[in-house]
Amino acid sequence: MVKKIAVGLIGCGFFAQNHLHAWKDLAPDGANLVAVCDIDPEKARPVGEKFGARWYTDAETMFATERLGLVDIATQVRTHLPLVEMAIRHGVPTITQKPFGQNIGEVRRMVKASRAAGVFLAVHENFRFTRPLLKVAEIIKSGAIGTPNWARIGFRTGYDIYAGQPYLREEQRFILMDLGVHVLDVARVLLGEVEHITAELQRRNPTVKGEDTATMLLRHASGAVSVVECTYESRRVPDSFPETLVEIEGETGAIVSRIGSKIEVSSNGTLEVIDADPPVLPWAARPWHVAQESVLTTCRHMLRSVRAGRPADTSAEDNLKTFALVEAAYEQAGKVRLKP
Ligand SMILES: NC(=O)c1ccc[n+]([C@@H]2O[C@H](COP(=O)([O-])OP(=O)(O)OC[C@H]3O[C@@H](n4cnc5c(N)ncnc54)[C@H](O)[C@@H]3O)[C@@H](O)[C@H]2O)c1
Repeated sequence: MVKKIAVGLIGCGFFAQNHLHAWKDLAPDGANLVAVCDIDPEKARPVGEKFGARWYTDAETMFATERLGLVDIATQVRTHLPLVEMAIRHGVPTITQKPFGQNIGEVRRMVKASRAAGVFLAVHENFRFTRPLLKVAEIIKSGAIGTPNWARIGFRTGYDIYAGQPYLREEQRFILMDLGVHVLDVARVLLGEVEHITAELQRRNPTVKGEDTATMLLRHASGAVSVVECTYESRRVPDSFPETLVEIEGETGAIVSRIGSKIEVSSNGTLEVIDADPPVLPWAARPWHVAQESVLTTCRHMLRSVRAGRPADTSAEDNLKTFALVEAAYEQAGKVRLKP
């Protein structure tokens, strides 16, 4: 019998629905979803009733009442710092959604707080846990393409993300915070740590406040170079949402991923095509199923890490490195002027 871990979830909005199903699916692994919290009772109550958890409208009350072994924060970024600090004060191992904080100052503060208190803190950074990208990482590790020395990593879509997340239209720092964190994290996972970054940002949709397109150029410590891109303004047919597509070249081969989670692996002159499309879980739906399955995989990884008493792969410390890239990209964007 696995020892049960009492899980509490804060924020019962749009994306949290995936977390809730994931925690329920992880019951055989010992996840016991005991409490949910949302400042809006109209969100907390139905979620509590549906998922069989006690519901709260105040996080402090939830922490004081429950004996949690893990808290999952699925609110928008503005609330991450106060909620993470609250969880750490209560000594509860904590996961927070991306983006980790509103700026690098907040992120450093949370890293420091968790370190000082010795409390587990991780970011729900799920893209590296999508089935196709786990497969790509595995292929690289196998040595099939030799050492990777060039890559293009892109999330380009025209999917109407504003329908589910209307607040994104108002974000001043928009796509780098929303998607850049994901694709930059993938770049670190696949090609290693980064030494230089430059960025060009665009606002191609005039009805949103922040940048909706980012094109970045990275040099990794290994010497590899990558082009990392994200946009919500692509008009391609078919649309690849919500897939991160990669092209990676190495000394002896290459990996190219295609829409539908197909991975083409060229190795020493031969081509193999791998199908890495995840199953559509009972509570999932296309086209979100790739992301939804990754939420389950991410939550499973968190549960196992907490149980083993080790940091998550996407620990606070690790995610600080991804976040530093976002800050550097904002700082760099458009700075280098041509001087003929
Ligand atoms: N990893 C991914 O693939 C992915 C996808 C979508 C969204 N997200 C992230 O998930 C987070 C939530 O996004 P969303 O679209 O679900 O937002 P949302 O606004 O739909 O939901 C957030 C919920 O948190 C509640 N809330 C706010 N402050 C609170 C507090 N102090 N205590 C308790 N509840 C509080 C709100 O009432 C709301 O119901 C964001 O950080 C977003 O970037 C991640």
